[in-house]
Amino acid sequence: MTKIKKNIPLIDQHNKRGFYLNKFGGNFVAETAIKPIEDLSNLFEKLRRNKKFLRKRDKYFKYYLGGETPFFKLENLTKHLGGAQIWCKDVSAINGDAHKAYHATVNALICKESGKKSLAGDTGAGMFGKNLAMAAKEMKIKCKIFMGTKDISRQALNVKFMKKAGAEVVPVDTGSRTLVDAVSECMRYYVSNCQTTHLAVGSAIGANVFLKICAWSTSQISRELKSQIIKEFGKIPKLHLLNVIGGGSSAIGFWNEFINYSKNHVKLTGVEAKYAAPLTTNAKIAILHGAAQYCLQDKNGQIADTHSISAGLDYPGVSPLHCMLKDTKRAKYTSCSDEGALNALKLIWKYENLRPSLEPAHAWAECIRIAPKLKKDEVIIVNNCGSGSKDAKIIKNKIGYYPK
Ligand SMILES: Cc1ncc(COP(=O)(O)O)c(C=O)c1O
Repeated sequence: MTKIKKNIPLIDQHNKRGFYLNKFGGNFVAETAIKPIEDLSNLFEKLRRNKKFLRKRDKYFKYYLGGETPFFKLENLTKHLGGAQIWCKDVSAINGDAHKAYHATVNALICKESGKKSLAGDTGAGMFGKNLAMAAKEMKIKCKIFMGTKDISRQALNVKFMKKAGAEVVPVDTGSRTLVDAVSECMRYYVSNCQTTHLAVGSAIGANVFLKICAWSTSQISRELKSQIIKEFGKIPKLHLLNVIGGGSSAIGFWNEFINYSKNHVKLTGVEAKYAAPLTTNAKIAILHGAAQYCLQDKNGQIADTHSISAGLDYPGVSPLHCMLKDTKRAKYTSCSDEGALNALKLIWKYENLRPSLEPAHAWAECIRIAPKLKKDEVIIVNNCGSGSKDAKIIKNKIGYYPK
């Protein structure tokens, strides 16, 4: 079996044509975008090694996004479930309410460096859209956000925020009217405007450079977490790192610094939404949004419809990086239903003062399922990657209440 190479960063483990394990990813892009994407690739490779740019990024992460996000033990939930200790990396505490703040900010910084005057991005749950709109406003860049009309209506709070920040929200009324269509429309727009516009892709998906920019940015989460764990435990104990998987940007960011530990030492578990679960259902490889990946398809090979109560998970494909982690067996993937996610929220609310969004609720459900089966010296950490306020209305409609 092919293995992850220990001495090469995860995002760099592709061949010359951008393929991971020679089969996932690549650059399936329109002719007109080839040169601008090549230029962006060269710029990104320069910037990620440039001390001045790194200082600027770190300054934005600290003073604009609010610095290190909290890491703490959920004493009550641990006691209630018995078994493993349950800890939370509360990324939802960031200024911007979700991990999307990292790659939105980095994309805006790269846009500035490229000399381009506008940004175009896709969004499903509205978290990337809202953070991109914020970063664009902060750096005085024009911003267009593509969003499916179904998501515009179910994530209205974030849409309001994007507009208030001065972004143009472009409604996408094709197909399932969700994230998959928003990404397609945004990429189409980019192909016709790539001389003037920087494309900011909302997850670790897309042609090679886009997924690299995203995963490189969210990796801030695991850099912080690793030092927080060592401060707390004096070492890296036996860990279970649980993360929800939509496109896969939060999970890659949460796991990046832990990939080289053995899987008996640090277990990585990704949780997909039950009806948007290419990794859990052994989906075949297809090309979607510029890259080859496991992707839900119908019997004719057309991209299949998905369903999730959570707009951020309603996506038929998944990052080529996760396809690689699955095939090398470095990470394990499972899935959770809408009902499972809602039940997890009820239990979290009962025992803890946390308000996760519907996306991380899927990871919390897996935590609640496995914690009682594990030993007390084992540590589960859940990436609480989004804040629930955007979902209050959906949740209230489903279960009748949402806590204050
Ligand atoms: C809060 C939150 N978590 C998770 C996701 C899923 O995306 P990804 O797997 O790229 O982190 C989203 C997507 O919008 C989100 O908003």
